[in-house]
Parts: sequence; structure tokens; C-alpha cells
Amino acid sequence: MSIVKLENICKNYYLNDVAFPVLNGVNLQIETGEFVGIVGESGSGKSTLMNILGVLDHPTSGKYYLNECDVFSYEEDELAALRNRTIGFVFQSFFLLPRMTALQNVGLPLLYRNLSPEKIKEQSFKMLKKVGLEEFHDRKPTQLSGGQQQRVAIARALVGEPHLLLADEPTGALDRRTSDEIMSLFLSLNRHDGMTVVLITHEEKVAERCGRVLRMEEGCLCQVEQIK
Ligand SMILES: Nc1ncnc2c1ncn2[C@@H]1O[C@H](COP(=O)(O)OP(=O)(O)O)[C@@H](O)[C@H]1O
Ligand SMILES: [Mg+2]
Repeated sequence: MSIVKLENICKNYYLNDVAFPVLNGVNLQIETGEFVGIVGESGSGKSTLMNILGVLDHPTSGKYYLNECDVFSYEEDELAALRNRTIGFVFQSFFLLPRMTALQNVGLPLLYRNLSPEKIKEQSFKMLKKVGLEEFHDRKPTQLSGGQQQRVAIARALVGEPHLLLADEPTGALDRRTSDEIMSLFLSLNRHDGMTVVLITHEEKVAERCGRVLRMEEGCLCQVEQIK
């Protein structure tokens, strides 16, 4: 089953009533269990596309089917619920809450669900363990390295058991070795847990490790000849 199907997605930004087209008819089909990499120049529209995939933004026109549901036919509050249940998001700058511990940060998406505090703690611990950080559960973000903070952000993205993991330049702020480790974690989530992953990167080395690579060019996506 296709988990994602985009049909002719267009997106304009408007500045003083002037339309700036960024996406010019994106078509994309992603099967459950795929690992898709998206590359492209800075400003080519990768994050705009990712925000639409993550239901954080609406396209100007086009259709988005997520698990065969017509996403943009939903009302705003239903969209929020759909996002919370279905999608995990990881960003370049980890967006952890500074006053909270690693464990509390991981548990945040579960606060919107009807779960007991014990259950939230248990589930958050499980996810911290998955990313190799259970010993660090009590640390605040500033007491963790960049790579560790990104692991916490990944655990937070996974805690609600999403179907789709979206990562926008997740290794962009990390050094080479840490970036390799984070990439290995994404690959393991894909291969061992069957997680469907879409990852944006501008680094060839990172793109080489994705199962399928697409390039954003002139507002459209094109297939890249397989690198490996
Ligand atoms: N909220 C916005 N309002 C107006 N223009 C925007 C907005 N967000 C992005 N853009 C413009 O859209 C283009 C694509 O941006 P983006 O999707 O962030 O590209 P990428 O992630 O590939 O670097 C850029 O020219 C950017 O300046
Ligand atoms: Mg971007």
C-alpha cells in the first residue's frame, strides 16, 4: 500500500499579493517501508514540500493521500489529530524544550493522548532506550551533545508510534562522525522496525545511504540515478 501519494502539488508564497511559485506540480508515491532521500539546492523548496508532507502547511493546489485518506479534505482539528497519530518530525535544530529533561521531552507528543503519567513515562523510557540514551533520561538539553539532542528528538518523533518519519536536514548541524551515527539510527529504524522514512539532505554522503533518492529542481521532483 502507498503510504504517501502526492498529486500535482503546487505551492505559491505570496508577498504583497505577488505569487512566488515554489512547488510546480510535485507527484510522489511512497510505499510503506521505503527510505526516501530528497536532495536539492538551498531554496529549491525541500522544506516547503516536507511541511506539506507533515501536514504543517497546505498546498495552493493538488491532492495529498496519506494512508489513502484525502488529507486536505479534513477540518483543522482533525488534521492536528491525524498529524499527531501518523507523523513523526525531526528537524535540523532539534527543538527540544530547554527546561525539560530528555525523558519529559520525549513524552511531549503523548500529552495529547489520554494516557496515564506512568504509561507516558514507560513509553518514553522505551524510546530513549531505542536511541541508546536511557542513562541520560534526567539530563536537560544543554547537558547533552548535539548528536545526543538529536537522538532525543528522534525518540520524541517515535514515541507516538507514527507510520511516517519525516526528517528535514537532521544531520545538518552535526559533525561527520555524529552525522554517520544518526544516519545509522534512521537506517536501523527503517530496516529493523519497518519505519517509512523521508529525509532531506544536502550532503551526498547522507543521500548515498537512502534507498531511493529524489532531487528537487525547479519546483518538481525528479528521480536520481541510484548512487549505490
Ligand atoms: N513563509 C514563506 N514566505 C515566503 N517565501 C518563503 C516562505 N518559506 C519559504 N519561502 C521561499 O520559498 C523558497 C523555498 O524555500 P524552502 O522550501 O525553505 O527551500 P529549501 O528547504 O530547499 O532550502 C525559497 O525561495 C524561500 O525563500
Ligand atoms: Mg530547508
